[in-house]
Amino acid sequence: MVRGKEFIDKVKELKREKGALILAHYYVDGLIQDVADFVGDSLELARKAKEAEAEIIVFCGVYFMAETAKILNPDSKVLIPYYKAGCLMADMAIVEEIKEFKEKNPEYAVVTYVNSSADVKAVSDICCTSANAVKIISSLKEDKVLFVPDRNLGSFVSEKVKDKEIKLWNGYCPVHEKLSLEQAERVKRENKGAPFVVHPECNKEVREIADFVGSTSQIVKFVKEVKAEKVIVGTERGTIHHLKKLRPDIEFIPAYPEFTCDQMKMITPERVLRALEREVFEVQVPQEISQRARRAIERMLERS
Ligand code: 13P
Ligand code: SF4
Repeated sequence: MVRGKEFIDKVKELKREKGALILAHYYVDGLIQDVADFVGDSLELARKAKEAEAEIIVFCGVYFMAETAKILNPDSKVLIPYYKAGCLMADMAIVEEIKEFKEKNPEYAVVTYVNSSADVKAVSDICCTSANAVKIISSLKEDKVLFVPDRNLGSFVSEKVKDKEIKLWNGYCPVHEKLSLEQAERVKRENKGAPFVVHPECNKEVREIADFVGSTSQIVKFVKEVKAEKVIVGTERGTIHHLKKLRPDIEFIPAYPEFTCDQMKMITPERVLRALEREVFEVQVPQEISQRARRAIERMLERS
């Protein structure tokens, strides 16, 4: 097992040799975050991938994120260290059902969370991330929206955007939904006075007792400025690695002990090294799907 300085030195050497850029989501292993050129949430990573000029992008995150990077930057070789690292929520939406809905309900705009496959994005009108969902939906001319696939982010947006009728797809993130109201109340009781921050993928009853609801980058921003000795973190534990670096004066409490996305943790340091050494696994998106998905993603980027 290669760890610590040995890992960091090897990655640096390979990155130089190959002209590679490492992009990492906040949820991946802390050591990988430490060697990444950029760490961000899904919106920030999409923007970085688009403007990157590297020959190779090693995308340390789940598959849909690497796929989005490839769609936005088709000239770079995009690698994902483990191609089976998928997003459980992204798998909850399928193209055929969305198409069927659109045929029956042409007056609806289909807004798709980036946590979705490229072929689902390709049949959508526009994408959004958790950082810009409210802004994107508010900007639409249509009064009726089908929100795919996260019912929790969708209901969060519905609470904010009152002038649209928002129909929710029945998808969810099992990692965020696992945080129950009972557990959230318990951790708050045990850490009295500590601000409780949650991701909008948490369910409504949990969001309602939170002090702040936001995407991963918005949580990072909140923590950067907060006056507190302790913060309860209602999102994937990997984020705490970054938060600790930003605010070593704060104690961070995961909202439940095993708040971990196993899919993100499939991206291990060994696999990152293998990706760089052997240039595997290359992400490919069929051109026709890529072009249509890109339209939905670009529409989002223009408006956010
Ligand atoms: P962000 O948009 O905050 O990066 O979230 C992505 C994700 O997968 C959350 O579970
Ligand atoms: Fe998907 Fe949930 Fe993992 Fe995010 S935390 S990548 S939504 S399974």
